[in-house]
Amino acid sequence: EKGGYEHFMLKEIYEQPLAIKDTYRGRLLVEEGIIKLSGVEDNMKRFLNADRIIIVACGTSWHAGLVAEYIFEDLARIPVEVEYASEFRYRNPVITEKDVVISISQSGETADTLAAIKLAKSKGAFVFGVCNVVGSSIARETDAGAYTHAGPEIGVASTKAFTTQITLLTMMALRLARAKGTISSSDYRRQLQELELIPEKVKEALKADKHIQSIAETYKDSRNMLYLGRGYNFPVALEGALKLKEISYIHAEGYPAAEMKHGPIALIDENMPVIVIATKKGHYEKVVSNIQEIKSRKGKIIGIVTQGDVSVRELADHVIEVPETLENLSPLLTTIPLQLLSYHIAVMLGKNVDQPRNLAKSVTVE
Ligand code: F6R
Repeated sequence: EKGGYEHFMLKEIYEQPLAIKDTYRGRLLVEEGIIKLSGVEDNMKRFLNADRIIIVACGTSWHAGLVAEYIFEDLARIPVEVEYASEFRYRNPVITEKDVVISISQSGETADTLAAIKLAKSKGAFVFGVCNVVGSSIARETDAGAYTHAGPEIGVASTKAFTTQITLLTMMALRLARAKGTISSSDYRRQLQELELIPEKVKEALKADKHIQSIAETYKDSRNMLYLGRGYNFPVALEGALKLKEISYIHAEGYPAAEMKHGPIALIDENMPVIVIATKKGHYEKVVSNIQEIKSRKGKIIGIVTQGDVSVRELADHVIEVPETLENLSPLLTTIPLQLLSYHIAVMLGKNVDQPRNLAKSVTVE
């Protein structure tokens, strides 16, 4: 059942090239320049008339929502708010009939997300579900939706659910951008072509596994770790830190790289490993200067970089390469080494990777 892998989590990490393909199969028609998502097509007016999109989710799905905020605003020019479902539902939020709510949930059973949907519906908002589990409560409760088709995710730590959610949300943003005319036809084509190449590039990123294992060996006894990223990769930093916390029980925090100087930089000394996402596109020079700030305080730097990178390599203690892609697609690649790093550290520490303490796969209590 684990297909020769030692844990479900590792199997699911390695399934990502196929899972992402399954998400876009039959929906992404690159030659024709078409994205086909019937849940979006059938409700195009609601999307185009929306004053804003509110995304509600929890945990890793909330991180996918944060990536989606950058994508929807950047490509489709629709204002987006991303909310923890548990906060949204209890704070008397302003919701109108002109709002579109997108709920994101792997299991489709998360109690807080389900309650947030019911609240939004009661105020007349249109609610669109992005779920993995077919026929789940959230899939049934929403007005329309699209499945990620990632296949069953058994490991409690979410991996392929995250990358397939981002794949689906990217397709939605591109479809809406095309309908709104906020993207040029050449950029649109380029996006489709690049998205289709992502599974191959994820495969390429997975090849760093052995190298990541040796980095895991070096840092497995750390008490804390910091994860930094900017722009599209800020939510990836949050997700990397969550993965480490939940399966290895090492304290970790994700931060926008530029926020360092407003507090967390005080934590840095020779015992603090800092994982910095520093891919070529997207604030590269700024991230390099953030890395210099860490280095001058003797922090240990693990850079997630684009293949062939020179500048970060000169400064960092270790680099892990991922293939080049469009900036907005980079989270699909930069997430991979962070998943592997936390997996290997947890295994080396003898933790129960697939069923970490205190956690459940579906959180059906609020
Ligand atoms: C993290 C993790 C949790 C879930 C969260 C939401 O690895 O598994 O944070 O992401 O409980 O679950 P779903 O997506 O099923 O609503």
